[in-house]
Amino acid sequence: MQELPSWLIDLFYLVAAALFILGLKGLTRPRTAVRGNITGACGMLLAVVVTLLDHHIIDFRWILLGLAIGTAVGVILALRIQMTAMPQLVALFNGFGGGASALVAGAALIEAISAASQPEAVGLTAANLVATAASGLIGAVTLTGSLVAFAKLQDLISSGATSFPGHQAANALLAAVALGLAAWLVGDPSGSGSYWLLVVVASVLGVSLVLPIGGADMPVVIALLNSYSGLAAAATGFVLSNNVLIISGALVGASGVILTKIMCEAMNRSLFNVLFGVMAPSEEGATADEVYAGKIKSTSAEEVALLFDTARRVMIVPGYGMAVAQAQHAVRDLTKLLESRGCEVLFAIHPVAGRMPGHMNVLLAEADIPYDKLKDLDEANPLFEQTDIALVIGANDVVNPLAQTDPNSPIAGMPILEVGKARTVVVVKRSLSPGFAGIPNPLFAADNTLMLFGDGQAAVRELIAALKEL
Ligand code: TAP
Repeated sequence: MQELPSWLIDLFYLVAAALFILGLKGLTRPRTAVRGNITGACGMLLAVVVTLLDHHIIDFRWILLGLAIGTAVGVILALRIQMTAMPQLVALFNGFGGGASALVAGAALIEAISAASQPEAVGLTAANLVATAASGLIGAVTLTGSLVAFAKLQDLISSGATSFPGHQAANALLAAVALGLAAWLVGDPSGSGSYWLLVVVASVLGVSLVLPIGGADMPVVIALLNSYSGLAAAATGFVLSNNVLIISGALVGASGVILTKIMCEAMNRSLFNVLFGVMAPSEEGATADEVYAGKIKSTSAEEVALLFDTARRVMIVPGYGMAVAQAQHAVRDLTKLLESRGCEVLFAIHPVAGRMPGHMNVLLAEADIPYDKLKDLDEANPLFEQTDIALVIGANDVVNPLAQTDPNSPIAGMPILEVGKARTVVVVKRSLSPGFAGIPNPLFAADNTLMLFGDGQAAVRELIAALKEL
């Protein structure tokens, strides 16, 4: 096959990079998001096709086999995955991205070593070796760190913080050993042993870094691992001298950093504190019994319907439980019914509600709830005082006042939706079980709170039926 000239390849790569950037821009607004997604995907298709046509690739058989296996696994995963398991899937994708970068950089190193006539003649520059070491280090940390994040989100291991005495010192030691191995690789590239040793140490470091992070800090970790996967890809781009990989890796790295910053601000935590300040449910924290005993007022759909009958403004506060119950369509129907009765309905969206950034926005958009009804934390909090009913559906940590009152709690300092300021709070959930952070919630025992126990979707449907009966 005729080789494409390198200027043409770079031109196509430039077009692909421009499509990535336009795609990202499109993703910043709900109205242009779908188009943005398609634009980015077209950029990726162009980048993949041009890379396959590049003269380095000679044998298509392995590539086709890889494509077939990858496509089959991807399609099956995407079709079978529950919407509630999306965050785990994203964590896995981040991890696989990091792992792929580490493997590709390792393969490029082995290729360069075996192509050299003598060990001293390995044709790799120092810059190239630094990029190889960075791919191995960051890629392996991303892979195993993401696997731990996956296991936490999937409840395969405790979602809380797990650490041992001297944990941070052990992490520092592992990081120092990894950097030492990277320096060894750069100084002596005659064998690939130092590289694979680096990958092993970095893999242990990835596990050890993410284990002590738990509870409410997981969103930050996922955003950070997302950024790492981009940095690993960019480093591999330098290894392969592939411009489009450098650009796309840098875009993922940078957007991951921005998302990490947004998440840190949403949790009111510094990144240093998330990564190195081990947080676990405080020993002294009140137990569920102490918080709830004798103070819980259970209600029924009929009783809540009567309250709605006279309500002028309702704020709906969705959380992870709405995703579990897939209650968004029922919530849309309730919204329409209330509005047809002259009641204003708004939604209060906490930045870390659910299990992934934008989780609630995606669910509510799926149910065609107009975007202008969604109020973020800063807009929503002042509105609660003039709200008749705050209807909390499957949210727990994001409305937990302990964040403001207990400095030892794992969510201490996290800004919350101050639903307690509404005239009445109705909480829909199945039991008094805690949320992701594993702590009781005094909101459920507050004087103006009524608990409507049940599955989110079933409870909202009962509420609709009861309202129609009035
Ligand atoms: P959570 O605090 O996790 O609470 C969810 C509640 O939903 C649970 O208490 C559960 O109570 C209830 N629930 C579960 N299934 C339900 C169903 N079928 N029907 C009704 N209720 C159901 O959720 P949140 O308030 O959205 O807070 C999110 C938490 O996850 C925060 O701690 C956040 O830091 C963390 N996190 C967030 C992210 C991102 S990026 N958003 C990522 C990882 C972790 P019952 O079992 O009693 O029903």
